[in-house]
Amino acid sequence: MLSTLEKVRLAYWKLRVRWHLQRNDAHGALARAWQYASATQLSGDYYEFGVYRGDSLASAWLAYRHSRRFFARTDLPFEQIGGVTEFVLNSPTFYGFDTFAGMPDNHEGQDSLASGTFFAPMEVTEARCSAVGLKAPDLRLVKGLFADNADAIGDRPAAIVHLDCDLYASSRDALNLIHPHLVQGTVVLCDDYDLFLADNAKGQRRALREFSEATGITFETWFAYGAASRAFLCHVPSV
Ligand SMILES: C[S@@+](CC[C@H](N)C(=O)[O-])C[C@H]1O[C@@H](n2cnc3c(N)ncnc32)[C@H](O)[C@@H]1O
Repeated sequence: MLSTLEKVRLAYWKLRVRWHLQRNDAHGALARAWQYASATQLSGDYYEFGVYRGDSLASAWLAYRHSRRFFARTDLPFEQIGGVTEFVLNSPTFYGFDTFAGMPDNHEGQDSLASGTFFAPMEVTEARCSAVGLKAPDLRLVKGLFADNADAIGDRPAAIVHLDCDLYASSRDALNLIHPHLVQGTVVLCDDYDLFLADNAKGQRRALREFSEATGITFETWFAYGAASRAFLCHVPSV
């Protein structure tokens, strides 16, 4: 199902994954996010809202695998006990939510985001993930509108949440779904943070602001990357 060119590209990513950390793009952000999860032993799953053909999902998996290599060493400068053991034993599930029918109906005013754009059947995404070794049960692709799939959310904390769904309404729905699984320190990658000319009243900026106002969960800017993307660390008020 994958073209030769796609296979070569994925093989190249696999080979180059250790250099992804140096990149100022989504690959770099995902590599950095998994390094952070390892450094802080943040156990939890990976959630991507807006998967399309699975490029960033595949990259997230490669970055995760690379980040865990450190813990496989026999000369660790600390013992594998307590939190470290828990972290090592709890491997994350990679969730990918998408309509797999393209962007939903919307009136958010950008032609490139019109209904039906970014169409990719789920089988294409599955094949792309499989090519880098990401398969069920580590992979769970969930088809349909985010808002209709609350039941598909797992029961563990979210270590990394990747919002790559462009629209205000979609980002709002994704945040509402993942809300109970955000913990102190969860990484939130907003691929489209500065879309809509960085207008605070639109897109992901609006969704994050409204979510914070409603829940008390705040997002501390960690770093900016790519053309319009930003990484955040969650602060969840203690109860
Ligand atoms: C820019 S693409 C994602 C790109 C992808 N992460 C990659 O690596 O290529 C945006 C995706 O979000 C999905 N999407 C947007 N809003 C959605 C919603 N409310 N429910 C489900 N999927 C949605 C679209 O179907 C589309 O595939």
